[in-house]
Parts: sequence; structure tokens; C-alpha cells
Amino acid sequence: MSAAPRAEPRSLAPPERRTVAVADNVRLGAYRLITVSEAEAVPVPQPGQFYMLSSAAEWGGGTDERPYLPRAFSHARARDGRLSFLLDEIGPGTERLGRLVAGEGLNLVGPLGAGWRPPRDGTRPLLVGGGIGTAPLLCLQDELGPEPAVLLGFRSARHAQAASLFAGPPDVATDDGSAGRQSLVTDLLREQLDRDPAATVFACGPPAMLEAVRVLCAGSATPAQLALESGMACGFGACFGCVVATKSGYLRLCMEGPVLDAEQLDSALMPGH
Ligand SMILES: Cc1cc2nc3c(=O)[nH]c(=O)nc-3n(C[C@H](O)[C@H](O)[C@H](O)COP(=O)(O)OP(=O)(O)OC[C@H]3O[C@@H](n4cnc5c(N)ncnc54)[C@H](O)[C@@H]3O)c2cc1C
Ligand code: FES
Repeated sequence: MSAAPRAEPRSLAPPERRTVAVADNVRLGAYRLITVSEAEAVPVPQPGQFYMLSSAAEWGGGTDERPYLPRAFSHARARDGRLSFLLDEIGPGTERLGRLVAGEGLNLVGPLGAGWRPPRDGTRPLLVGGGIGTAPLLCLQDELGPEPAVLLGFRSARHAQAASLFAGPPDVATDDGSAGRQSLVTDLLREQLDRDPAATVFACGPPAMLEAVRVLCAGSATPAQLALESGMACGFGACFGCVVATKSGYLRLCMEGPVLDAEQLDSALMPGH
């Protein structure tokens, strides 16, 4: 089964900040899974779109200090009336969001950006995720169904607990061999493409992984869509903070992406690489 073609992948409604109540915030290995009621968070997002999130209270260093800018997050899942985010706590914003308790207010703007497009005709979807980059693949799997292969790479078994959210189960690789195979997820990808080259790859992960995916797919003429990251201050096209270089010039990742066709990029252009 493949995703239905969408005429317009972006949200056209003007962004409006809503405050919703956190329903749940649980630890999942190295990550946190934050859930809000989707009824409060309409419109329904497309897989690969993202939200700008901030806590309604205590978003900043203190009463005398400026608030932080909101932070960008892919939604991991939008189903059963709930919208969820998978979070890696790496700094002050993600740590504050990670401390939200049920009933606390979460400000969200979105859904934003252009998400995953349908796979190329005649190909099977192949989902490839690294670390926290597994988040936007979860809602893609929800849309595509459990048939497409899912390959996930993590640092350790603790991080690999995120794989339990997927139907399947997915093929897992870890850096230290504490879960799944001790290898890189791109090793799994190479083997899968050797077995079944008629694929469209959907990939999200750290810059080095995405660059390796891009090179592999370019070498085998496999179409690939890459969900990229760049620093985002607004999320809806106003600040130009998120521009990335592509073969056809600069573009705002929050508007034209975060998902871009790999063919638009080359190694010198990959953000963060
Ligand atoms: C479209 C998009 C979707 C995202 N989805 C998720 C998600 O589902 N789950 C998740 O945990 N995170 C996601 N992120 C990353 C998330 O936005 C950052 O981790 C967060 O902004 C960090 O905020 P902080 O205040 O905790 O840390 P900061 O202090 O702001 O950052 C900590 C460190 O990470 C670097 N950094 C911060 N943001 C980025 C970025 N966007 N790209 C590269 N380096 C960065 C900083 O330079 C710094 O070194 C996404 C980012 C984008 C652009
Ligand atoms: S984040 Fe402001 S223009 Fe993209």
C-alpha cells in the first residue's frame, strides 16, 4: 500500500499558536514521548510535517530573562485522537519540554512545512531512521501500513527502545551491539537495496547518516527523500534562519522541507555535514 498523492504538501492555513494540555509524558529509554489530545491540536498533520513547541509556563531562564524561541519537532504519531512527539533532551528547551507533566500547557504552532511525498511509481517504500530521526517515520508507517521494511539505527539498546513503537518489528542496528546487529543502519540499507533495488527510501537521522544514505541511493539510482534539520526560529518562512543550499539555490527548509528529494542535494550542500 502506498501513501495517497497530495496536491499541496504544505499547510496553507496561517499559523496560529494554540495552548493544549499535556495528556502524558513518559520516558522511553533515552527519549521521552509527549502526548496531547489531538482534538485540541487540529488540523491533522501529514507525516513529515513539524510543529514549533514551547511550554506555556517557565519557557526561559527566569522572570528577568527573555523567553526561549520555540523549538521544532516532527510529530511522531497522530492517531486515536492523540498527537505525540518523541523528544531527545539535548539542551534547555528540550529539557524543559521533557519536564512537562500531565495537565501542563504546551504551546504549539503547526502543522508546518512539507512532509513526505508518495513513493515513486513502481517502487516500494523503505523507511530508514537514525536515533531521534525515527520520529517522523512512525507516522509514515502508520500511513503506509506495516508492509514496508523499516531499518533503524541507534547508539545503544536504551535509545533503541524507540523501535518498540513501530509495527513490524523493524530491523535494528546499534553502535555498541547492545540491541539488534552491531552495525550502522546504512549497512542494513546497503544489504536491503542489494536484495530489493526497486525502492523509494524515506530517511531521517543525523547529518552524517543522511549523507551516507544520499550517497548510497545516488550510487544505485534509488529515489530518496531526506528529512533534514536546520536551526528554526519561526517555522513558517518569516526569519530565513533555516535556509539550506540546494542545487537549484537556497530555500527555506521550514517551507520547502523539512523533507527534500535527495537529488536536490550533494555532499557539499548537506546541512551540518
Ligand atoms: C524540522 C525539525 C524537526 C525536529 N524534530 C525533532 C524531534 O522529533 N525530536 C527531537 O528531539 N528533536 C527534533 N528536532 C531538533 C530539535 O528542534 C532540537 O533538538 C531542539 O531545538 C534543541 O533545543 P534545546 O533548547 O534543547 O537545545 P539547544 O541548546 O538549542 O541546542 C543544543 C545543541 O543542539 C544543536 N541544535 C539545536 N537544534 C538543532 C537543529 N535543528 N539542527 C542541528 N543542530 C541543532 C545546537 O547547536 C546545540 O549544539 C527537530 C528539528 C527540526 C528542524
Ligand atoms: S524557520 Fe524562519 S524562515 Fe524557516
